[in-house]
Amino acid sequence: MSTENRPPLDPHPLSEYVAWAGHRNREPILELLKKKLPQAPGEVLELASGSGMHINFFAPHFPHLTFQPSDKTDETFAHIKKLRDEQGNLNVRDPLAIDLTEPSTWPGEGSYHAMFCINIFQVAPVSIADGMMACASRLLTEDGFLMIYGPFMLEGAFTTPSNEEFHNILRSAGVEEWGLKDIADLRKAAEARGLRLAEQIDMPANNFSLIFRR
Ligand SMILES: C[S@@+](CC[C@H](N)C(=O)[O-])C[C@H]1O[C@@H](n2cnc3c(N)ncnc32)[C@H](O)[C@@H]1O
Repeated sequence: MSTENRPPLDPHPLSEYVAWAGHRNREPILELLKKKLPQAPGEVLELASGSGMHINFFAPHFPHLTFQPSDKTDETFAHIKKLRDEQGNLNVRDPLAIDLTEPSTWPGEGSYHAMFCINIFQVAPVSIADGMMACASRLLTEDGFLMIYGPFMLEGAFTTPSNEEFHNILRSAGVEEWGLKDIADLRKAAEARGLRLAEQIDMPANNFSLIFRR
């Protein structure tokens, strides 16, 4: 990961660091979503939306789809709605409180044609993968998919020296759950919930997009 102009690491969803990361990754993720999202009308859920910058950036490119932001608490909901209203995104719903560790907060079965989640695993415990896969397994339509974007380890190894450096920066913060997680652990969590890793796509700046399907 290039350190050029990178603000100090701060995982708060409204931090300068998260805004910087989001502005770097939103174009390549949009290009991928253009290839993957349904052409027909449908419902798309973002998990861990944070500031809402991604969902509000993507939504105008898919006027036939309805976008549902969410996060574990309502702390950022006013910000998500402010972006939506400023940008006039009529196809972005009011955010929902969805905590991936709390199934009672998850909406109804089979309600989403696609789900996506950006940059959560480097600052969350790997155990959250089980909740995310269980949630996706419950909420996705039969041919729906879950796309997870972020930096990951691959079968116990760093894919680049810069990812190892980023991992070490995260670990040096002394927070138990911070650090890169392994794609193998996500795959195992998915398989335990009836999903499979269908595609592993290399993205710029040593990130991956992982697509899980039934
Ligand atoms: C680093 S921020 C990334 C936010 C946004 N996806 C982005 O890329 O700008 C991580 C987000 O994960 C959310 N999060 C952490 N634990 C969660 C959980 N158990 N369920 C749902 N969201 C969670 C946080 O509230 C925060 O918004």
